[in-house]
Amino acid sequence: MDAAPVQFGQYPPAQRTIVHLSDTHLLAGNVPLGGRYDTAANLGHTLDAVERLGIQADAIVFTGDLTDLGEPEAYAALRRAVEPVAERLGAPVIWVAGNHDERPAMRRDLLDLEPSEDAVTGVWDLGGLRLIALDTTVPGWHHGDLDDEQLTWLQEVLSTPAPLGTVLAMHHPPLPSHIPLFDILELRDQGRLAEVLAGTDVRAILAGHLHHSTSGTFAGIPVSVAAATCYTMDLARPAVEVNGMDAGQSFHLVHVYDDTITNAVVPVVDARAGEYFSAAWVERMAALTPAERLEAFSRKPGR
Ligand SMILES: [Fe+2]
Ligand SMILES: [Fe+2]
Repeated sequence: MDAAPVQFGQYPPAQRTIVHLSDTHLLAGNVPLGGRYDTAANLGHTLDAVERLGIQADAIVFTGDLTDLGEPEAYAALRRAVEPVAERLGAPVIWVAGNHDERPAMRRDLLDLEPSEDAVTGVWDLGGLRLIALDTTVPGWHHGDLDDEQLTWLQEVLSTPAPLGTVLAMHHPPLPSHIPLFDILELRDQGRLAEVLAGTDVRAILAGHLHHSTSGTFAGIPVSVAAATCYTMDLARPAVEVNGMDAGQSFHLVHVYDDTITNAVVPVVDARAGEYFSAAWVERMAALTPAERLEAFSRKPGR
C-alpha cells in the first residue's frame, strides 16, 4: 500500500519522494567483493525492500561506487537488477559516479553514451524539484575533487532557481569523518564548492562513499549520506579499527516537503514486525475528527 494521502498533523504530505541508495560495488561474474561479500545478492535484498514500500517514487538515486572495478559486465548486471524495479516504481534512475567507477565504461555500458573521461553530470526536473548529479571522482584516484569546469557549469545551472528548489547528488560527501581512512579519501578543496552554493536554491545534498549513514551540514545545507547496499562499516569500534561487515545495509527514503526535507534510514533486515497498524487502521482514524483522533490514540489510559 502506498502511504495514505491523509494529513493528521500540521504538515501536508510530502511533495516529492526520492529513494536514495549507494555503493553497490558490483563485480563482473559476481565475484565476492574482498573475497567476502555477495554484492549482487545484497543489492537484490535491498531492491526487494524498496519494492515492499509499495510507492510511486519521483526518482531512484544511486550515489556512486556503482561497480567496484568499472567492468562493463558489472554495469550490465546493475542495469538488469535495477531497471525493472525502477519501471515498477515509475521512477527515473539517477546514476552518480563514484571513485570505484570508471567514466568511459560507465558512460558506455550504463548510460548509453560515448565513452570518454568527461565528468558524468546531469540535471533532472522531478516535477519542479531540480536534481543535479555531480561527478566528484578523479580518474585514477580514490579521493574526490571538483574541477573548475564542473564548478562553473554548476554555477550556471544554479543561476536560475527551480520551483521546488534543488537537490545535489554526489559521491564524496562534503563532511568531515571521524574515521581516519576517509579523511585521506575526502572531497578536496570544499571551500570552492561552498562559494558556488552560497545564495542558491540548493536545499539538500545526497552522498555516499562512507558505507555508513551519517548527516551534517555543509555551507548551511543539510547533507545526508546513505550507507551501502554491498557492505557497511562497523562503527561499533574504535575509529582506527573500523572495518567492513556483511550487515547493517540500508537505504534512505527522502521526503521533500514545502519547507524541509527528511532522510529516513531504512534498514534492510529480515525481522518479524507487528501487524497492528494497517491501511484499515488509517482509514478508521481518517473517519474521526481531529479531537476524536487525539482521544482515540493520544490519550493515556486512566489519566
Ligand atoms: Fe564505496
Ligand atoms: Fe567511494
